[in-house]
This record gives sequence, structure tokens and C-alpha cells, in this order.
Amino acid sequence: MSGGFLDFLGLGRPDASLRAAVPGDAEALAALHAGAFRIGWDAAEFERLLANRLTRALVATEGEKLIGFILLSGVAPEIEILSVAVSKHRQGRGIGGRLIASAFGTLAAEGFTTVFLEVEEGNAPAIHLYGRCGFTQIGRRTGYYRDKTGHPVAALVMRRDIA
Ligand SMILES: CC(C)(COP(=O)(O)OP(=O)(O)OC[C@H]1O[C@@H](n2cnc3c(N)ncnc32)[C@H](O)[C@@H]1OP(=O)(O)O)[C@@H](O)C(=O)NCCC(=O)NCCS
Repeated sequence: MSGGFLDFLGLGRPDASLRAAVPGDAEALAALHAGAFRIGWDAAEFERLLANRLTRALVATEGEKLIGFILLSGVAPEIEILSVAVSKHRQGRGIGGRLIASAFGTLAAEGFTTVFLEVEEGNAPAIHLYGRCGFTQIGRRTGYYRDKTGHPVAALVMRRDIA
């Protein structure tokens, strides 16, 4: 049976590993981001973010291949999830949840008490995941995003206390 078919089924794959992002990940991060969001961030943008001392970034990998990431930015005691994404064929296997849990692992010890995020209303998988990770909605910003036809879409503002 071909590796491609096994890959499609999610069989025969090693578990994803998580590690801190490094500057050399910028190109792969930009490619993953472009596949996950309507407005992509290019490699230069990721280089800038990774060089910023306020940014925390983790990546999920399968072998050499980068298959997910989470980016956070903030000054204690508050931090924001800027972006989280998992490549399409790897979604629904708990990688997004692992990235969030792992990012949270060191935050409390570093003096962070509250995590915020914005998510597009209607992004059911992300809202479900954030709820499962302990986030609750604290606000709604009308017309914060544009959908692919240019129509305004609200953002939900979510918060989780980690102290
Ligand atoms: C959001 C995202 C990062 C989640 O990554 P993931 O690896 O699939 O996450 P997990 O497998 O840990 O969890 C996904 C959860 O969403 C659920 N889910 C999937 N599709 C869903 C849907 N249409 N409606 C509701 N829940 C859904 C899954 O069942 C799972 O929950 P469970 O573990 O309780 O069953 C991924 O979907 C993604 O990259 N999306 C595109 C980028 C994006 O929208 N990022 C968030 C921006 S704020």
C-alpha cells in the first residue's frame, strides 16, 4: 500500500514532536500560515516576530517537516496568542491542543497570569479547541475581520487565567 494513502489515513506516522521555533523555521512557518489563513504572513514577517524578545513560538514537527505552530506575545502578566495553526492533513489529532498546553507549561512560572486571544466568529474548530483549553469569551468585536468575499466578520475575544 502506498505511503501516500497511509499518510492520508493518518496511519504509519510518528507522533508529532514539539520544540521552540528557531529563525531558520521562518520560511516553513510562512508556508504553513499561508495554507491556514486568508491573509498570510510572509517569511520576513516571521523572521521579525521570531527576533522579537516578546514573542514565544513553538513548532510541531514530524521528522524534518513542520506541521504546526503557536505564536504568543506579551509582557507579564498578560500574553496573547497571536496565531496557532496545524497543517490541514494533520488536524484533529490533538496537535493544536498539545501546542497550547505546551506553551502554557512555562508561562505561570514566568509571571504570566492571563492569556487573551481573538478568533473569528464561526471558526468552530478553533473556538471548540479554545473552550476545551479553558478559554471563555469575554467580548465580541463587530467587523474585526473580512471573509473571503470581503464581508465583515466579528472576532470573539477570549481569555484564560493561568495563575
Ligand atoms: C484550530 C486548529 C489550530 C486546531 O488544530 P488541531 O490540531 O486540529 O486541534 P486538536 O486536534 O487539538 O483539536 C481540534 C478540536 O476541534 C474539534 N473540531 C474539529 N472540527 C470541528 C468543527 N467543525 N466544529 C467543532 N469542533 C470541531 C475537534 O473535534 C477537536 O476537539 P476534541 O479534541 O474535543 O474532539 C486547526 O484547526 C487550524 O490550524 N485551523 C486553521 C487555522 C486557525 O483557524 N487557527 C486559529 C485561529 S484563531
